[in-house]
Amino acid sequence: MKNKFLILRNCIAIIFISFFMTSEKTSAQNNNNRKWWKEAVVYQIYPRSFKDTDGDGVGDLKGIIEKLDYIKSLGVDVVWLNPVFGSPNDDNGYDISDYQGIMKEFGTMKDFDALLKGMHEKKIKMVLDLVVNHSSDEHKWFQESKKSRTNPYRNYYHWWDAEKGKPAPRVSFFDVNGDGWKYDSLTNSYYLHYFSNKQPDLNWENPKLRSEIFNMMKFWFNKGVDGFRMDVIPFISKDTTFPVITKKELDEKYHGAWDYFYGHGPRVHEYLKQMNKEVLSKYDVMTVAEGAGTTSDDAELFVGEDRHELNMLYHFEGVSLGYLPGQFKQMDPKGYSLVEFKKIYSKWDSVFAKKGWGTIYLGNHDQPRMLTRWGNDAPKFREASSKLLTTFLLTMRATPYYYFGDELGMSNIKFDNIEDYRDIETLNYYKKLQNENGDLNYFLQGQKIGARDNGRTPFQWDDSKNAGFTNGHPWLKVNPNYKKLNAAAQEKDPNSTLNYFRKMVRLRKALPELVYGKYELLDKDNDKVYAYTRTLDKKKVLVLLNFSTSRSKFEIPKQTGSLNVLMNNVASLSVKNNTVTMEPYQALIVRLQ
Ligand code: NOJ
Repeated sequence: MKNKFLILRNCIAIIFISFFMTSEKTSAQNNNNRKWWKEAVVYQIYPRSFKDTDGDGVGDLKGIIEKLDYIKSLGVDVVWLNPVFGSPNDDNGYDISDYQGIMKEFGTMKDFDALLKGMHEKKIKMVLDLVVNHSSDEHKWFQESKKSRTNPYRNYYHWWDAEKGKPAPRVSFFDVNGDGWKYDSLTNSYYLHYFSNKQPDLNWENPKLRSEIFNMMKFWFNKGVDGFRMDVIPFISKDTTFPVITKKELDEKYHGAWDYFYGHGPRVHEYLKQMNKEVLSKYDVMTVAEGAGTTSDDAELFVGEDRHELNMLYHFEGVSLGYLPGQFKQMDPKGYSLVEFKKIYSKWDSVFAKKGWGTIYLGNHDQPRMLTRWGNDAPKFREASSKLLTTFLLTMRATPYYYFGDELGMSNIKFDNIEDYRDIETLNYYKKLQNENGDLNYFLQGQKIGARDNGRTPFQWDDSKNAGFTNGHPWLKVNPNYKKLNAAAQEKDPNSTLNYFRKMVRLRKALPELVYGKYELLDKDNDKVYAYTRTLDKKKVLVLLNFSTSRSKFEIPKQTGSLNVLMNNVASLSVKNNTVTMEPYQALIVRLQ
């Protein structure tokens, strides 16, 4: 009897201890790997469209300096600036002609230094864009490279001697003919360009080129810059024998997608490891890859801590949802499926649950406005759906990348005419279609939702001329809704989307479970409500997002006490016996007991 009692006592003790140890492990796991960039909220600024101070219609660095108090008031920790370097602007700065100089329209190096200092004084970190898959054709390296086959810079780029015949086809994303090779008669050779023919691809095989890039990165880090967002970084390595890729091979090995092929070059990880060893590891900085051509199967190779490459990566699976397959940014008339949306974001959460760290975004300079694309820009739903999307971005286990203007609920401008567009992607695709006698009207309709310029219209500061963005003629039209929808008006309204964003940032900072907590999806097949919990140690919150235009019911797990609502984006709350009846686009954050 005594023995039996002892066995039972020991069993209970073992169960108790192992329970205690597992819960300890969970909390240690979550907190051991704490990093400032995991806890940060990143605010992306497209400098061209933020604030113009010299009246040329283009935003500038002084404009960002002028608005530092506003940026600080948002509570964000990091600002990512799209390229600010010397550029002829074929692709708005993603064609760099001077990596260590500032774009003339944006100002001078003195302005840059003042901006960096101003940001650091306010405890805001600065992340720049690293665009090193390609340069501008106006960069001195390329100017030299094209001069002769024996020029010392020849191997800074990928050339193909024409006497060998035409090189195997490569697709260009921006070329009017879709051709990734451009013939240059001066040396009777072709050069490679995955983007426009003014963006020749750099040759990373050449150690000299790599060392130039690493030195350039050190130049910015030594100034005090806090990190880089790396443009199409998975594309940097190429098989320089340029083999023929048949349609069959593309379909079977590369999901039928050129970007996937480009994202799987033979030496990409070797280059990133070298970059990490020689540069990144020497500074306390953050890095985020634009994960073009990567999937959830290979993302960890870029960001797993044990890989010693980069910190984070952003995927395209989410933002590609809802477009018709095989068509260029044409929305499915049925819209996107919320069930699929949940599946994608839940899968990506699980990718980084043990190793690496994720990012979350719904808008950026390559995307339309998140409100139009993922919420609902009809006047009736604008405010609630905009706040709902903000709630989603700030409650996921990933670093949020929040695009400037989304805090106001800015929406797509939806141009009717091709003449209004400025983006090379839209303009060249239009020309390509014209050459092919394609359906231009269908294309223009599609661009009202999908075009990048929708996300690039000037920031709406107030209701004065040009929304207070410029005294001159804006480089891209201002959305006419600025008269009502602007920052000044929203400052005065405690319930505005702007003030909601500020509250959500504060909430994320106050609750570590929103950053590090385990993510669990509830009711995965519910096609209206996206519901998930975030749990850290014994703290648990429930996030409920009604992604629909109708009232939707959701049953909350049984509560011991009264319902503790931490956030509600609408004025009402209807709960009966643990069932919430959610208003259209209502977002709730509830503490679970
Ligand atoms: C991705 C950038 O985000 C996009 O704006 C640019 O056009 C291409 N890369 C080419 O640099």
